[in-house]
Amino acid sequence: MDYRLELRNVSKSFGEVQALENINFQLGQNEIVGLLGDNGAGKSTLIKIITGFYQPTSGEILFNGQKIDHLTVPRARQLGVETVYQERALAELQTLWRNIFLGRELTNKWGLLDVPKMRDETYRLMNQSMGFTSSAIDPESYVRTFSGGEKQGVAIVRALYFDAEIIILDEPTMGLSLKETARLITFVRDIKRAGKSAVFIDHNVVHVYNVADRIVVIDRGRIAGEFITRDITLDVLMEKMIRVAETGNLD
Ligand SMILES: Nc1ncnc2c1ncn2[C@@H]1O[C@H](COP(=O)(O)OP(=O)(O)OP(=O)(O)O)[C@@H](O)[C@H]1O
Ligand SMILES: [Mg+2]
Repeated sequence: MDYRLELRNVSKSFGEVQALENINFQLGQNEIVGLLGDNGAGKSTLIKIITGFYQPTSGEILFNGQKIDHLTVPRARQLGVETVYQERALAELQTLWRNIFLGRELTNKWGLLDVPKMRDETYRLMNQSMGFTSSAIDPESYVRTFSGGEKQGVAIVRALYFDAEIIILDEPTMGLSLKETARLITFVRDIKRAGKSAVFIDHNVVHVYNVADRIVVIDRGRIAGEFITRDITLDVLMEKMIRVAETGNLD
């Protein structure tokens, strides 16, 4: 079967800075790939190429085995890429149901906004799909009152509900409490359960280890190595990450 997403020999430079060099990266169907690497390694740049925000200086991008030239943000979205960033993705001054359906509102047979249906769907998604039981999570409540973890949950619900096939999480646990982080990890597992794929970036090796099927390590713009998560213990992974930081190599 084709990969959900593949990068072949992708390089990206910003003037003199070579942010990525000959990256070969694959994301399988229903696979969660964790990206690890130090500050400035090139993780966000890689993500921005996948989301169409940056065009690579050279190399190819394939979705389901099909080469896509000139990937743009709308095109990537059309191809099923959704990105979850903390805070930024939501309209703070809007209600929960409006946030869920923002830009993709449901209408009734007269072409008018079907508010009751959007409210009901929001309730169902938050309660049944995501297991949000807090009484604060009402379709009519305002997103600005939510905790960081709850906001992340909303962003993930939206990505799952709108048939995103590839969900990108760039440092989603940044600024979250322990409890929120635990919940976020559950959301990422829900992505897997829903049959979708995800790329998960986090500085915390433990978080990545806990959710990823495969871990790709980036160092100074190059792929330093990769592991199948179940073939490696957390201790060994941590040792290897320290070695990469010191030498640029995994062994
Ligand atoms: N728009 C840009 N213009 C110039 N240089 C850039 C730009 N974006 C990224 N870079 C450089 O490319 C390199 C990779 O940056 P990137 O943001 O991808 O790293 P990262 O792995 O996401 O780091 P972090 O863990 O700190 O988020 C860095 O040296 C960075 O300074
Ligand atoms: Mg980054």
